Amino acid sequence: MHRIGIDVGGSTLRVGEVDVVNGRVAGAVDTLPMPAGARPDDVLAALAASPVLRGGTGSIGLGIPSVVEHGVARTAAHLDEAWIGLDVAAAFTRLTSRPTVVINDADAAGLAEMRFGVGRGLRMHAGTADGATSRRIIVLTLGTGIGSALFLDERLWPNTEFGHLRLPGVDDVDGEGWAAASVRTRLDLDWSTWAARVDAYLQELQRLLWPDVFIVGGAVSEHAAEWVPLLKCAVPVLPAVLRGQAGVVGAALAAAGGAEADDIETWTS
Ligand code: BGC
Repeated sequence: MHRIGIDVGGSTLRVGEVDVVNGRVAGAVDTLPMPAGARPDDVLAALAASPVLRGGTGSIGLGIPSVVEHGVARTAAHLDEAWIGLDVAAAFTRLTSRPTVVINDADAAGLAEMRFGVGRGLRMHAGTADGATSRRIIVLTLGTGIGSALFLDERLWPNTEFGHLRLPGVDDVDGEGWAAASVRTRLDLDWSTWAARVDAYLQELQRLLWPDVFIVGGAVSEHAAEWVPLLKCAVPVLPAVLRGQAGVVGAALAAAGGAEADDIETWTS
C-alpha cells in the first residue's frame, strides 16, 4: 500500500512515495528548494509539480511546520504568515485532485519513528527503576527550529509546540532559538557548547513533563555520537534512526490513516 508523503522543511521540500506497510520509501525522494518567501501558493505549486507526486497515485500526506487543525494551518514558523488560517488540505486537494491530509511536520516524524524507527522496540526494553516500560515518549526534531511530538505508548497528542518553551535564564529567545541545530551552524558552536544548550532544553522539558525517553531526530541525529554522549540529562536520549526520511514516511502514514491530523491517535493505537 503506497502513499505520497511530503515534508515541508525550513529550507527543503521532500516528496516521496512510501510503502506504509513497512515504512520504506519506494524509489527516490524529490528534494526541492523552499521557494523564496515561503508563501503558500509558491510552496504548494512547487510540490504539486513534483515528478514523484505526479507519478504516484492515491492520497497525499503533507507535513508542515505549523499547528494544524482540521487541515487548517494555525501558526506559521519559518513560513510566510499567509499560511495562517489557510485550509491547506483543501487548497492542495484542489491543486492535485487528490485527497490530502495535513499534519504538523514533527508529529509526522514522530509517528514514523514510533512505528518504524527507534520507538518501535521501546516498550520491550524495561527501562525504569520500578520495572515499568517506556510509555511516555517525546520525539524532538532538531533542525531549523525544534519540533515536538508527544506520545503515550503509540498515541500521539498532536500539535505540541515545545520548541517555543522558555528556558530559565534565557530571556531573548525561546528554546528553539537557543538550541535548534540551525543555531549551532549559525553561531558556529562546537559540539560541547551546543550540547550544553540542548541539555538545558531537555532538562527543562524533563522538569515539566517527566518523559521516560527522549528521541532526537533531524539531520543532526546523524552526528549523534558527537553530542548525545555529552548530555547530562537524567532521561535516556535515543537518536532517531529514520533520519531525513522520517517526515516523509510519517506524512504518508497520516494519509494512509485517512484521518484528520487531530484524529490520528485513534488509528495509531
Ligand atoms: C514550529 C513547529 C515545527 C517545528 C519544526 C517550530 O518552529 O512551531 O510547528 O514542528 O518548528 O519544524
